[in-house]
Amino acid sequence: MTGKTRAILDILIEADDYISGQQISDSFDLSRSAIWKHMNKLKAAGYEIESVTHKGYKLLAFPEGFSSAEIDSDIEHLALVDQVLVYDTLGSTNDEAKILARDHEDKEILIIAEEQVSGRGRRGRQWESPKASGIYMSLLLRPDLRPNQASMMTLIAGLALSDAIKSETGLEASIKWPNDIVIAGKKVCGILTEMSAELNEIHYLVVGIGINVNTQVIPESIISLATSLSIEVGDTVNRKTLLKAVLTRFNELYRQFIDVGDLSFLMDSYNASCITVGREVKVTGKESWTGFAKAVLADGGLLVEKEGKDQVVYAGEVSVRGLYGYV
Ligand code: BTN
Repeated sequence: MTGKTRAILDILIEADDYISGQQISDSFDLSRSAIWKHMNKLKAAGYEIESVTHKGYKLLAFPEGFSSAEIDSDIEHLALVDQVLVYDTLGSTNDEAKILARDHEDKEILIIAEEQVSGRGRRGRQWESPKASGIYMSLLLRPDLRPNQASMMTLIAGLALSDAIKSETGLEASIKWPNDIVIAGKKVCGILTEMSAELNEIHYLVVGIGINVNTQVIPESIISLATSLSIEVGDTVNRKTLLKAVLTRFNELYRQFIDVGDLSFLMDSYNASCITVGREVKVTGKESWTGFAKAVLADGGLLVEKEGKDQVVYAGEVSVRGLYGYV
């Protein structure tokens, strides 16, 4: 969309009511026929615009999918990022975020894709990202944090997701520490946090979030492990409303985290939503061992009791007994 068409769209969004052709023409120094052409471009892009003689133009509805203009207007007041970019197709929003991080040295950006063709999960796994059915996004952020605080961002995203899904769908969405959101024992969301850092300084962080929202068909190979919100709720879920709820909650938690510097302020709610806590776990790292998960701590670690002694786990794969086929 060209700059002028986008600027006219912004005026329509802000107006919230009819705006006269004269007003638009004065603002942009455009003829009536030029305005009409811009309106047609917007309509072709899926915006529903009504034009009424003597009243002017009114934006009635946004296009079906994500549009950066709509997301801008929904989340601008949060001041979470400087820019929102929406793509039809990307390899991976995390990869795009990293390219943008290098090209725009001080910007914080939200990247959303309707579809990913090389969506990535943790440990080199693939993240299925079929068109227009999920939310695939990455937040490129530049918080003033130390590298050892970066993993806490995953926990903030996890709590934001679990809270937003609960409030928007009524589903019991639990956090499997630290990266997954689980409903009825199956995964619906994954978080992939990546960073570029030096020893004492983070250059940028990319918080990648994938949510199976309206996915109807789960691949046979993962049917016992994964689900979608619409499968669980038995209805279509509005992706835009959910996206807004996730970003709003993330923003609240992120701001508090930056103020406080650790996760102490959210420990109670996190632990209450965490399916890992109070269960037997298997930790797979350099060596594998089992223990009992007691709590998630303010530094993001998982406190596990192993043979009567407490240990804190920060990395490695943690399987939860009774989940994802671990018996
Ligand atoms: C996992 O559970 O292993 C993490 C999955 C993360 C998937 C999201 S989708 C948006 C972003 N872009 C990617 O390529 N991956 C993350």
